[in-house]
Amino acid sequence: MPIYHQLGEVPRKRHVAFRKEDGGIHYEELVGNKGFTGPSSLLYHLRLPTAVKSVEALRGLAWAGEPERVLRHRHFRTATLATGPSPVLDRVPLLFNSDVALSMARPEKEDDFFYRNGQGDEVVFVAEGEGTLESSFGEVPFRAGDYVVIPRGVLHRWRLAAGPFRFLVIESAGYVRTPKRYRNEHGQLTEMAPFSERDVRRPTRLETRDETGDFPVVVKSGNRLVEMVMAHHPFDVVGWDGYYYPWAFSIHDFEPRVGRVHLPPPVHQTFEGDGFVVCSFCPRPYDFGPEAVPAPYSHQNVMSDEVLFYANSEFMSRKGIEYGSITLHPDGLPHGPQPGRTEDSIGAKGTDELAVMVDTFRPLLVSREALPLEDEGYPLSWLEGSGEGR
Ligand SMILES: [Fe+2]
Repeated sequence: MPIYHQLGEVPRKRHVAFRKEDGGIHYEELVGNKGFTGPSSLLYHLRLPTAVKSVEALRGLAWAGEPERVLRHRHFRTATLATGPSPVLDRVPLLFNSDVALSMARPEKEDDFFYRNGQGDEVVFVAEGEGTLESSFGEVPFRAGDYVVIPRGVLHRWRLAAGPFRFLVIESAGYVRTPKRYRNEHGQLTEMAPFSERDVRRPTRLETRDETGDFPVVVKSGNRLVEMVMAHHPFDVVGWDGYYYPWAFSIHDFEPRVGRVHLPPPVHQTFEGDGFVVCSFCPRPYDFGPEAVPAPYSHQNVMSDEVLFYANSEFMSRKGIEYGSITLHPDGLPHGPQPGRTEDSIGAKGTDELAVMVDTFRPLLVSREALPLEDEGYPLSWLEGSGEGR
């Protein structure tokens, strides 16, 4: 995220001796991506961030897709999906390719370990729940409607306050950022962007933990989990600065665009990654032209798979979906409003829809875990008289 931020105490210059009161030094650590040239931050620890007592391989995380790729419109009902207690280890895979993976977590219990995803950036959409993401960079409070962005390598733990919790986890092989066209040549979000830096919630409170003992950290890398037990509390940072840290952005702070006639989905774009984009469909007035058709036209976007997660039960162009539904409209097939939706939209004033869209440029695979959730009738729901109620 290209906004410089500083929290706590940092020395006057980087890479110089930063003394503690007892005459010892703080230990500097660079955390970032793309080696020493990508976005990064410098953290100052009380103890060495490398001090581990033990290293133990836990398990592999190979995701299995359905045996053969099925080409048809898909609808998965995830509302009652049971996951497991952990916010990070019990995520149920749903859709994936080599660029991006979608999974769901419905955590019930805080982890007694810390977590670091070393292989991907995470965008966690909080459909339900409230709490705090704690990290070496400080705390990011979260609530329903937030996208919590956790760049790879950020050591963190989810503190769960008010549940129930439902997270849609978007894990990206590439660096997640705001769309380039929203930023000027200096990286600042322009006046044309549908949100601004004020909407980006950076870490606030930094509590320095000066504790020794056994502190397990689970690290994900190369589709494997490893547990490292650190000899001290990993949140021993007294200060940091830079451009790399976890942050949150609320879908309710996205300023939707409305036109005289229909505007295409890119106006809803919120993030970009390598090989995919994330868009936010928010409550908004409909297009205001007297002859406007607010519902989208059917579209056949070959070379793009479209995934929608419905964060409430309303969606302007779709029948038969419910809260927690996930639709997948794969490339090679047209899709659009179901029977009656286009006509119904004419003259309507607005929508209360809330949905997260992930468009990928490579085909997605459906996980084995998603198959039992599938609404088998969905591919035929565009037939006159058959879409209702599914
Ligand atoms: Fe679409």
